[in-house]
Amino acid sequence: MKIRKAVIPAAGLGTRFLPVTMSVPKELLPIIDRPQLQYVIAEAVEAGVEEVIIVTSPEKESITDYFRPHLELEQRLADNGEQALLDRVTEAGNMARVSFVVQHEALGLGHAVLMAKDAVGDEPFVVILPDDIISQAPGAHTPGAIAQMVQVSERVGGGVIAVEESPWEVIHNYGVVAGTPVSDPASHGRIVKIEGLVEKPAREQAPSNLTIVGRYILPPEIFGLLERTEPGAKGEIQLTDGLLALIQDHDLFAYRFDGKRFDGGTPMGLLRASLAFALDRDDTREDALAILREFQDSTSETA
Ligand code: UTP
Repeated sequence: MKIRKAVIPAAGLGTRFLPVTMSVPKELLPIIDRPQLQYVIAEAVEAGVEEVIIVTSPEKESITDYFRPHLELEQRLADNGEQALLDRVTEAGNMARVSFVVQHEALGLGHAVLMAKDAVGDEPFVVILPDDIISQAPGAHTPGAIAQMVQVSERVGGGVIAVEESPWEVIHNYGVVAGTPVSDPASHGRIVKIEGLVEKPAREQAPSNLTIVGRYILPPEIFGLLERTEPGAKGEIQLTDGLLALIQDHDLFAYRFDGKRFDGGTPMGLLRASLAFALDRDDTREDALAILREFQDSTSETA
């Protein structure tokens, strides 16, 4: 079934990015010149998504503001014949239909997703965490991660969550899946039928080294399950608990996507993403390489 809608939770506190997140939402922090939020919307649109539902908080009006028309600026750029800049200004608003729902208190990722229940309705949808930035695998024909997941979901028939193989030393930082590989020749051993999920396990207790990345294709039944999910330790409703309830009656698959994930939720992760994207973009590659060389030279001088 076609995935038409994406839910992007963006109402969190962004504590790992304090102090800047006191006034700038993490989701608007830039990779080069566009907010990270815009990259994940582009990835969704490439996969056929037509409507994006952003979950924001009352303190994050700047997110809504980013997507509204900026008429005065647009008029001035049009009058000056600055078409390239005008295209940049209107890009975000033209990518997809964007709507907003408010999560009044940051009560967890599961709770944020639940806020989009009415906007999604009775159809499968994709949840995208905007601080998991994924760059496309090299090669002109490799689709983005969500597009790959949509294809997998059509083939295996069920929900799909993105995973990556992580080093065992860092497993305790992530959600980890347990399951059985699916024999699907087209996916080259990348699909696992999920039988369990563990949040942040100790290395010895981890059922695998497949860690969850912020892309989930889910059936609408997840909403009812989240409504019945009790808040966990910090009073938060966790998406993982909803997923554990989901696998009792629904097929859910983990898919090891082709692509590279960056952690845009931390300062150094966003710096890495910025460098990687700058090296990948025709108009910034040379400057990025020059910066790298400059730093390499100055560190070897001081060594
Ligand atoms: P994170 O845990 O990465 O974001 O949630 P956070 O809570 O904002 O950041 P830290 O951990 O304090 O540094 C993943 C995504 O889910 C959203 C966040 O905005 C982020 O985009 N989220 C999280 C919500 O929308 N509501 C919540 O209650 C929690």
